[in-house]
Amino acid sequence: MKIIIKDDYKQVSEAAAEVVAQKIKNNPHAVLGLATGSTPIGAYGELINMCERGEISFKGVSTINLDEYVGIDGEHNQSYRYFMNTNLFDHVDIDKNNTDLPNGVAKDLEEECKRYSAVIESKTRDIQVLGLGRNGHIGFNEPNTPFDSKTHIVNLTEDTIEANSRLFDDIADVPKRAITMGIAEIMQAKSILLIATGKGKAKAVLDTIEGKVTENVPSSVLQNHDDVTIILDREAASELH
Ligand code: GLP
Repeated sequence: MKIIIKDDYKQVSEAAAEVVAQKIKNNPHAVLGLATGSTPIGAYGELINMCERGEISFKGVSTINLDEYVGIDGEHNQSYRYFMNTNLFDHVDIDKNNTDLPNGVAKDLEEECKRYSAVIESKTRDIQVLGLGRNGHIGFNEPNTPFDSKTHIVNLTEDTIEANSRLFDDIADVPKRAITMGIAEIMQAKSILLIATGKGKAKAVLDTIEGKVTENVPSSVLQNHDDVTIILDREAASELH
């Protein structure tokens, strides 16, 4: 694991964007695995700036996102499709036909999981960007998700619902289920970039990097991948030895 510690969120965002931009520079047809949550917003902003300056182009790039809530469609302002459009896709020269997320309002959710697994299987991701849940979840793979899991439907934990409720008007509005890429599929990406900032992530960061590899801490599986970069701010790194 390559661990980079920066002073603050801005520097973390710049460094993370640089790692992703390098993949696009190396391969104009790069396949990016992308994440939602507040953590990567700054990095997406930096990528937008780079695209505006003509340093990178998303014309040939395809993306596969980690997850989506069940029960809200892409027009809903809390859906992850909406998040990706407003925080990245609408501001760069990407062809949206080349951007994929699970469909949280598919009639047959099991079929949708199969479709999504097939998409993941068909495209080798050059990089998978990850945020980190306070309980070590990656995507929406909550503690005790099997490491060999593929795309599946999850019941969100109370902790995750509570953490994500800050973005909703009312905690009752937070969907209780989501579709997430599985852990085995996350691990198939050629490289992985995990970003975490703030004191609230310090324990999960410690468990990810220094803890034992256990399904109890989904992110600990990253210790088994041979090309992982973790970018942290000082607060998120504060419990590391
Ligand atoms: C959600 C997402 C995760 C994300 C996590 C942390 O649960 N499904 O992909 O990593 O939140 O979010 P944040 O970056 O807002 O702390």
